Amino acid sequence: MEANVPPKRKEPAKSLRIKVISMGNAEVGKSCIIKRYCEKRFVSKYLATIGIDYGVTKVQVRDREIKVNIFDMAGHPFFYEVRNEFYKDTQGVILVYDVGQKDSFDALDSWLAEMKQELGSHGNMDNIVFVVCANKIDCTKHRCVDESEGRLWAESKGFLYFETSAQTGEGISEMFQTFYVSIVDLCENGGKRPTANNSASFTKEQADTIRRIRNSKDSWDMLGVRPGASREEVNKAYRKLAVLLHPDKCVAPGSEDAFKAVVNARTALLKNVK
Ligand code: GTP
Ligand code: MG
Repeated sequence: MEANVPPKRKEPAKSLRIKVISMGNAEVGKSCIIKRYCEKRFVSKYLATIGIDYGVTKVQVRDREIKVNIFDMAGHPFFYEVRNEFYKDTQGVILVYDVGQKDSFDALDSWLAEMKQELGSHGNMDNIVFVVCANKIDCTKHRCVDESEGRLWAESKGFLYFETSAQTGEGISEMFQTFYVSIVDLCENGGKRPTANNSASFTKEQADTIRRIRNSKDSWDMLGVRPGASREEVNKAYRKLAVLLHPDKCVAPGSEDAFKAVVNARTALLKNVK
């Protein structure tokens, strides 16, 4: 005989409160990205954030209701004293640069450094979800930081990466959705990043080599040999790079282009080397 057990009532998942901040140089589009997501609109006139803008929004992730406190920071150095106290107790960071402003991309490291400094020695950046927004992708004519460069920087640090335009809305909902899901995953995982996201699927050596190749000034420099090196030296250097970057072996963003550039550099050099 079957026991008359009442059906198990499904416990509603607990609601969650999270704190999210935006970071990045002035005018890269931090406020516009947030406005596009929360208010579904875009303002083309630049209205600099003064210190901090604060807002609350509710989102649903799986069966949880998430209350998001968003602190939108001013990017201008002038507001450092105002924003520095807002870094603490953050679960998610939206790190923004403008794909048409190389300076704003190069500044990402100093934004991380500022946050690290403010969190102090007890602060742990490993339990925070970072999403990098390569913003203003609608301005194709002015673009100077390409996708693989941005993606390489982000993924080599274990950060999420999205190409966005606050103007057209491209990438914005996908970015926020993935961002919030990752934060909830992190909270449910006891504040640790789930291991799958913890490490990049490529090595630091591969990332650094791709960056070095991109910035090399000529074919000698690209292969890492002295100008006038012998055929053997060129071939040896080439083989080392080919093993490191071969598309079958390396999944780092930009590895395919770097590999092609190395092949071309070797061909060009061997034409002239006796
Ligand atoms: P601060 O508050 O000073 O730190 O700047 P911010 O990063 O918040 O920049 P904000 O969102 O105010 O945008 C700066 C300017 O860039 C404004 O004129 C926006 O209209 C423009 N802008 C923002 N996002 C985009 C975008 O995706 N495409 C284009 N074309 N313009 C954008
Ligand atoms: Mg702003």
